[in-house]
Amino acid sequence: MAEPLPPPKRIAVLTSGGDAPGMNAAIRAVVRTGLARGFEVFGVRDGFTGLIAGNLVPLGARDVGGIIGRGGTVLGTTRCEALRTEAGQAAAVARLARREIGGLVVIGGNGSQAGANALALRGVRVVGAASTIDNDLAGTDVSIGTSTALDVALEAIDRLRVTAASHKRVFLVEVMGRNTGHLALNAGIAGGAEAIVLPEREDEPEGVAAEILAAYERGKSHAIVVVAEGAKYNGERLARHFHEHRGRLGFELRVTTLGHVQRGGTPSAFDRVLATRLGAAAVDHLDAGRHGVLLGVVDDEIAATALATVAHLRKPLDARLLELASVLAR
Ligand code: F6P
Repeated sequence: MAEPLPPPKRIAVLTSGGDAPGMNAAIRAVVRTGLARGFEVFGVRDGFTGLIAGNLVPLGARDVGGIIGRGGTVLGTTRCEALRTEAGQAAAVARLARREIGGLVVIGGNGSQAGANALALRGVRVVGAASTIDNDLAGTDVSIGTSTALDVALEAIDRLRVTAASHKRVFLVEVMGRNTGHLALNAGIAGGAEAIVLPEREDEPEGVAAEILAAYERGKSHAIVVVAEGAKYNGERLARHFHEHRGRLGFELRVTTLGHVQRGGTPSAFDRVLATRLGAAAVDHLDAGRHGVLLGVVDDEIAATALATVAHLRKPLDARLLELASVLAR
């Protein structure tokens, strides 16, 4: 009797957590590289929530046509509480086993890679692709979506500087980043901010006010302050403090909170290429039997870091950039 055929090589891809411009380019790369390597490729709808519910669809090359330039994720995404539970993890593993899917690519940020690690601990062959506008994932210099989110923030800052200069005002611009300041630090440097307020430094309002007043004393006519949403004093709290003390401080101030607009950009060339590299590398890893890692880029080379490590680390701010920021504000 003939031996039964081995199960087809099947992999699946999902996007999870906050969407990030470039996720679609990563999905496209996984699908087309996977097909080229002889895999059958499945897309999981709505992140880990869809995986637990068994919401998987086969994807062909044409299904990912025309998506490389689109922001968001065509697969949908969720923040999945159920994956934190034993039952949720067991259900996810069972769904993959039932479809004979031998490898999973998880495109997402910190919470998503912690979920990927939980599945890896249950024996799933999983590879993560670093994707978050926050750029706070350990094991990578940069994540999918960060460059585009920065460009969106920068366009807003450049526009605000025009009106700030006309009115000789101070503008506070709050950017995302959850509880880290990578986005704020880079937006502040690129936007020539007079002050940057970061969660990592616990900046106090009087210190920020002193920086603004010092900028005026150096002959500046207006000021831009970039504030991370996770800072001890976020945009709203800073504005309240400055409003209460406006008589003493003597400057007029406006606040703009950029919020989710930063996630909605058309992916930059950088993000499209980064996402394509990471998606293709994820397939390479699964094909070579390497898994349980997050893929990112370090010194422009693809770098793999154990998911177990990534799940417990947060990338620190670049100390050289921090120093530069205060020198360049002069
Ligand atoms: O992690 C990406 C991010 O956009 C953070 O910058 C922000 O704090 C958070 O997601 C917002 O989450 P949600 O879209 O669930 O409100």
